[in-house]
Amino acid sequence: MTNELIINKPDDMHLHLREGELLGFVLKDTAKQFARAIVMPNLKLPVTTVNLARNYYDAIKSFGYDFQPLMTLYLTSELSKEEIKRAKESEIIHGIKLYPAGVTTNSKDGITSIDSCFNLFEEMQKYNLPLLIHGEVSDSKVDIFDREKIFIEKYLIKICQHFPSLRVVFEHISTKEAVDFVLESSVNVAATITPQHAMLNRNDLLSGGIKPHNYCLPVLKREKHQKAILQSAISGNPKFFLGTDSAPHLTSQKESACGCAGVYSAKTAIEIYADIFDQNDALDMLPNFCNKFGADFYSLPYNQTKIRLERKDYEIPRQLEFNGDKITPFLAGQTIHWQIAEMPH
Ligand code: DOR
Ligand code: ZN
Repeated sequence: MTNELIINKPDDMHLHLREGELLGFVLKDTAKQFARAIVMPNLKLPVTTVNLARNYYDAIKSFGYDFQPLMTLYLTSELSKEEIKRAKESEIIHGIKLYPAGVTTNSKDGITSIDSCFNLFEEMQKYNLPLLIHGEVSDSKVDIFDREKIFIEKYLIKICQHFPSLRVVFEHISTKEAVDFVLESSVNVAATITPQHAMLNRNDLLSGGIKPHNYCLPVLKREKHQKAILQSAISGNPKFFLGTDSAPHLTSQKESACGCAGVYSAKTAIEIYADIFDQNDALDMLPNFCNKFGADFYSLPYNQTKIRLERKDYEIPRQLEFNGDKITPFLAGQTIHWQIAEMPH
């Protein structure tokens, strides 16, 4: 039995670092686990320009952690072709994120007509700047469990056919249809996998009482979808790589009549993925999934620093203290079996 893993420090290819006081809190947890992260732009004032991305980058760097933020721009209908060129030249921006308007937290400034973005996708293809997609339709008439599947049928197939050289990341996939779509697409189409979508299904959200801390978007689906996602993560296929979608909200805002979507996993993310891979006899697949496939997709060098993981039971805290408030971490109170440990000297 493997009791220890020494691996290159992982990358989180989908992370919400937030802003203000919360930024420092999330960064502290993240920098222990990850060398780099693709930083989501859905701040209260969305990161829609290169200047805003640079300010956000500087704010992140000012904390002094040994951590590299990989910035993204928030796609709006106002984004210009010139700004896409500037983004590419900036060297700090690694993708442009498409949120259909109204689909999730801080997405009201997102896209209402995907068709009208095709001229922008053209530029992104030209400059080899990846398009990162929250792949759900936001039409409130569409059943929430079908929103990802319908997004694929209505938009994603068309985007990928029109722009065969555009690199596309289908973020936080939640359905078997998404797994199949990525498998059938070219090498330019990849997906991020969150721990919650690989581990849980909608029973973990709705059966035996509502579990607001397992509520995220896309919402957890049936077990057959969870199994497909888990399989894709442990398959060793480079199209599937780590992206936590860790997205903190205050406990009070999740345990509410209208609870926020988002799971806070940053504090123990790599330990949780190690547990998932281990329980499925796939520990040997963990390193590439967490530190190689994502870097390859984004054309980044591999991290050189190492982390050590050891097999050791660890109970995830029930609550984290934040600024006189509380945040409930993913799998609060549950025991996982791997922990980050000191490197041997
Ligand atoms: O559950 C989610 N929370 N899904 C998202 O797409 C956004 C995120 C957030 O920012 O809170
Ligand atoms: Zn996200």
